[in-house]
Amino acid sequence: MSSTWWHDAVIYQIYPRSFRASGSQTQGDLQGVIAGLASIAALGVDAVWLSPFYASPMADSGYDISDHRNVDPRFGSLDDARALINAAHELGLRIIVDYVPNHVSDQHVWFQEALNSPIDSMERNRFHFRDGKGSDGSEPPNNWISVFNGPAWTRTTNADGSPGQWYLHLFAPEQPDVNWTNPQVQQDMLDTLRFWLDQGVDGFRVDVAMGMAKDMTYADQDDAQGLIDAIRLDLFDGSPESFERRELVNNSRIFDRDELHEYVRMMRAVLDSYRDDLVSVAEAWVYPPERAHRYIRPDEFHQIFNFDFLVAPWDTQHLGDAISRTLADMTAGTPTWALDNHDTPRVATRLGGGPEGVARARALMCLTLALPGSVYIYQGQELGLEDVNVPDSERDDPVWHRSGGAQLGRDGARVPLPWAGDAPSFGFSTSTTTWLSQPHQWASLTREAQQADEQSTLNLVRRALDIRHDLRDTSLAQHPTVTIDGELLILRRDDITVVTNTGQDPRPISTTGDLLLCSRRVSADHAQGSIPGNTTWWLTGSVSRP
Ligand code: NOJ
Repeated sequence: MSSTWWHDAVIYQIYPRSFRASGSQTQGDLQGVIAGLASIAALGVDAVWLSPFYASPMADSGYDISDHRNVDPRFGSLDDARALINAAHELGLRIIVDYVPNHVSDQHVWFQEALNSPIDSMERNRFHFRDGKGSDGSEPPNNWISVFNGPAWTRTTNADGSPGQWYLHLFAPEQPDVNWTNPQVQQDMLDTLRFWLDQGVDGFRVDVAMGMAKDMTYADQDDAQGLIDAIRLDLFDGSPESFERRELVNNSRIFDRDELHEYVRMMRAVLDSYRDDLVSVAEAWVYPPERAHRYIRPDEFHQIFNFDFLVAPWDTQHLGDAISRTLADMTAGTPTWALDNHDTPRVATRLGGGPEGVARARALMCLTLALPGSVYIYQGQELGLEDVNVPDSERDDPVWHRSGGAQLGRDGARVPLPWAGDAPSFGFSTSTTTWLSQPHQWASLTREAQQADEQSTLNLVRRALDIRHDLRDTSLAQHPTVTIDGELLILRRDDITVVTNTGQDPRPISTTGDLLLCSRRVSADHAQGSIPGNTTWWLTGSVSRP
């Protein structure tokens, strides 16, 4: 198999807590993932990326890891992880696992040792411990703000009960940041990569890759709140101000610092010492694109998530710009495309929700699958799911809790998947409840129901992946041209034309060839020479406006 398989791979993101459970569990587990894998392989994807399933107190749904080299009992055991890797490989799927190098859980043995060790000890140096400001040290060491709201520092309590030093956490207080300038931290984090490579994984999605280095003088950040707002995907609206705000991230006190690339090179050296067909993808919300390119130099990550595209509003200008900007410099590496993930609203919801939001999501998925590079699909996107209005009493996201409910957080996109049947938990497990409740309307959206419906989103995605696969080495190997004609976005790759109508109304177009794929449920309009609103067509031949 090709060592560069990931250049045009389709990668399916599994969020294990909500994918599928064995037995009567209300939360997902690895045996559940194994049971669901064949359905994912049948979609026609090349790989799966698993969000964390490691030992964790679950303060941030598993992104707070107390042992990076073990599986949390609620997800199963290391043997289950090995069985999963094997099962995936037997189905022809590669396995990418999440890797969280920026922070650990406050229950991690190192952090507990640090709390019980003196100031300036080696144990504390693995983290960022500082004295507070003010005569009694009662103010945080500086003005840095947590991504999850509030100060990025929490004060410790000494063994005698007196207030102690403060420690840094860019996310929840249960997620202390490690100090990557410390050689022990480097060694241990790299050993975690080796551990999972020894288990047979094919790559890593690297969490908060842009945060690994901090300004070690711990100076105040200019516009500290603006910096945090700059990485809030939900605040981005495509306006010039949103773009400008994002530039704050560039070499700031805590994000996108030049020094972090040294650590990335260490990681890459480990990967390269194993195999030449591994992939690493950086979660790094950086801007402008030149900053992003720095993460995918030949000795750094293989890929970086393309968040510019993920947040692009539904209009030809924003989508066309995001696509053209990405394609303009393909020398920096192959592009990636994603429409949502476990941290964002589901794409159908982001694009307006309801039947229209779903129609747009289907159209955008079809457009995306025609682009060069690799595509990441978040579980449930292939079912056309929308965010669920989770009752406050069920909400679990630290973003919700730490903002006092001002920000809803990410639970709406994390509701357990519907598999089959007509009542909760829709085959997720044998339980009738799930950790976040599923809506009754999901009965018509189960995988089972959609398999039986020719026009379902599931069958649309499967068809798109089939065609993409068939044309992979021919038409879809050609560089595209992108043109905008009012509300039509037209992508041309060799003898294939992909047209997206982002408008509400049908637009007349003349086509010379056949309709290969239509994102709409029913498509009578091709013959009539007009593409419906919120629709994407894949056509052989060319199109023109009459
Ligand atoms: C990004 C992850 O995707 C998100 O879910 C998590 O909360 C933060 N990093 C912290 O690990």
